[in-house]
Amino acid sequence: MDDTGESAKGARKAGASSAEPRVVVCANEEAVARAAADEFVRMSKKYLASEGAFRVALSGGKTPQLLYRLLGSDEFRNQINWNAVQLFWGDERGVPPEHPESNYGMVRLELLAHVSIPAENIHRMEAERPDIEQAARDYEKVLRRYLPLGSAGVPRFDLIFLGLGNDGHTASLFPSSKDWGDARGFVTAPREQISGVRRMTLTLQVLNAARHVIFLVTGDAKADILRRVLKDADVKLPAQHVRPLVGELLFLADQAAAAQLNG
Ligand code: 6PG
Repeated sequence: MDDTGESAKGARKAGASSAEPRVVVCANEEAVARAAADEFVRMSKKYLASEGAFRVALSGGKTPQLLYRLLGSDEFRNQINWNAVQLFWGDERGVPPEHPESNYGMVRLELLAHVSIPAENIHRMEAERPDIEQAARDYEKVLRRYLPLGSAGVPRFDLIFLGLGNDGHTASLFPSSKDWGDARGFVTAPREQISGVRRMTLTLQVLNAARHVIFLVTGDAKADILRRVLKDADVKLPAQHVRPLVGELLFLADQAAAAQLNG
């Protein structure tokens, strides 16, 4: 069986449930960002009230930049009690925070520079460390310290934002990685196949333990992969195996990315 098959079988072992995703199609990428920002505000109030904190993992890449810029804007920043928000990352590239490829660096520029969030509430992945495997172990300790543990002892986020790569990857769970579906533990350090750059990523079992997972998918370049992930039962792709066990799964897509879904 090819590696992907093994990973997919492992993904099912990881407890990927069959919770059907909800798909909301928005007019354009600005509307996607706004819908995501509204969800962030709504959930921050809900979990502050019920849990005393709001624990979120942020995605990287280009798609969520508009979201982070909105959350840091005059319109949204004051709707959120940032003292109660604990920010984490779903994945990080093996570069320092100042590097243009850093997911943390992008969030710092678009969001953190514009809101008053306590430094101790910001938990970046130290993927630039030479001992990245140890950095991954250390990040698992951070997750255990700040997050409630679900029934299987897996750290449970209130909300995880994810993106979708054209090859069906999400976070840094790549189809080319042999253990994307059954990685042990909560944080792993795969190698991005094309560039060879090390990454750190939450594992599938952490994604599937979350209360809410929201994918942000925009642009016509994502139309084919979004259709395959949502409609093609024959493929075995990481993004397809994000199925929160007891949480909610939402795809926020613009019309361009959703163009192949009806039909
Ligand atoms: C990363 C992301 C990755 C991203 C997708 C989509 O670190 O690159 O976590 O999973 O979400 O590759 O990236 P774009 O939003 O740039 O298309």
